[in-house]
Amino acid sequence: MKHHKMKASSLILATIISLVWSKQFSYEGYKVWSVTPKSDEQGKLLLEWENNVSIDFWEQVSKIGLSSRIMAAPDVQSQFEEFLVEHNIDHKLIIENVERVFERERLENSQNKAKSTPNSQPGSGNFNHFWTFSEINRYLTQLTILYGDICHTETLGFSYEGRAMRALKIGRFDGTRPIVFFEAGVHAREWIAPMAALYLIEQLVINHHTHYELQSVDVIVIPVLNPDGYEYSYNYERLWRKTRSPNANSTCVGVDANRNFAHEWRPSNNPCSLTYGGVAPFTEPEAAIVRDLYARYQDLVKFHIGIHSYGLYFLYPWGYDFVNIDNWEDHDLAGNNFAEAIFNVNGTIYRVGNAAMLLYTAYGGGSDYAAYAAAELSATVELPGGGDSGFDLPAERIESVVKETWMGLEQVLHYVADVHGSK
Ligand SMILES: *[C@@H]1O[C@H](CO)[C@@H](O)[C@H](O)[C@H]1NC(C)=O
Ligand SMILES: *[C@@H]1O[C@H](CO)[C@@H](O)[C@H](O)[C@H]1NC(C)=O
Ligand SMILES: *[C@@H]1O[C@H](CO)[C@@H](O)[C@H](O)[C@H]1NC(C)=O
Ligand SMILES: [Zn+2]
Repeated sequence: MKHHKMKASSLILATIISLVWSKQFSYEGYKVWSVTPKSDEQGKLLLEWENNVSIDFWEQVSKIGLSSRIMAAPDVQSQFEEFLVEHNIDHKLIIENVERVFERERLENSQNKAKSTPNSQPGSGNFNHFWTFSEINRYLTQLTILYGDICHTETLGFSYEGRAMRALKIGRFDGTRPIVFFEAGVHAREWIAPMAALYLIEQLVINHHTHYELQSVDVIVIPVLNPDGYEYSYNYERLWRKTRSPNANSTCVGVDANRNFAHEWRPSNNPCSLTYGGVAPFTEPEAAIVRDLYARYQDLVKFHIGIHSYGLYFLYPWGYDFVNIDNWEDHDLAGNNFAEAIFNVNGTIYRVGNAAMLLYTAYGGGSDYAAYAAAELSATVELPGGGDSGFDLPAERIESVVKETWMGLEQVLHYVADVHGSK
């Protein structure tokens, strides 16, 4: 599909779509259970629910003994609960009515936003609410106006609905310096991830003189890799995760762009699944622009970090199978530096390890592709979630989480500067 023709019509489409989102999708009566499989058998039985459109796994069911939060719409609650009882699966009702949680989130978010200065002033500390996509764009633009000597933005491509996917680039990009690449927001509902990326950007740009790593390392940050999904989650359906492209022969919309990469990608026949990887790799522009970045910078990319929520993990390849990447010891070292720096802030404990062994296997993931195609080191970090009460943190906790996360991410930059940064 050719770009320019696509773009004008997609922009009109996006406008129409946003007019149609007249009101928030309601989670009235939706419940969340914390469910803990005690055997492989129970795990397998639970997974049979994964493709049911009335069920949403907030965390994927993974290892025996690890609990997952599973949300059920009113129409399947009694069957789901009966199933849990019948198979003697440990479970606990933790959210009685999900809509109440999101009402509280919206209220707190808008109150905090009203208290803060407009987001056009980098450094004014507005990490007290989740920013809209247009606030994020205004901020990036303002930052490049004020600090144009050390950073600039680049539009890497356009989403299905025609939104610009922008990267902030900090450094020289002269073709010799090592590059660290951060992407956040590929999963729309993980709102804390873009906030963490923006805080990283702010620290690096505003305090650039104090960061020795910037003397030898270039940094690329994509704060919102999936803008269509982010907007949709923000304005309409809070728990939207995927892109917003339509699927042939299905009423279900969207692809999990983090399952749409061409390393150990697997076909799947269920477009309604939250982890649907598409009909082929790179059908989604959100994945294709990342592929193109790797192709462009090749061996210069030393570290790739995908920022997600939630779970408190630093996960390294491979994710597609229970196999460690050859240089897993370097990954382990870098991951432990990350975790230790965060622990030292306020005692938050991250687990560091191989993605498949620590959590679950996932095909066609962005971090695997990064390691396969370009990056020397690659990881997915899962930031903290909203405790028992919600998917994301309350707005009042954003600041403390992005601050501690920054301390960890800074270690990633130190790692690359110390190993590669001679220039
Ligand atoms: C979801 O589960 C309910 C209850 O078991 C069942 O009636 C329904 O057919 C399922 N839907 C799908 C798409 O599997
Ligand atoms: C959709 O259906 C048509 C006609 O049955 C078929 O040719 C096509 O391959 C299907 N596409 C997908 C993605 O399943
Ligand atoms: C530190 O952790 C405690 C307990 O988990 C929490 O109550 C407090 O808000 C945290 N403080 C910061 C600055 O993160
Ligand atoms: Zn995610």
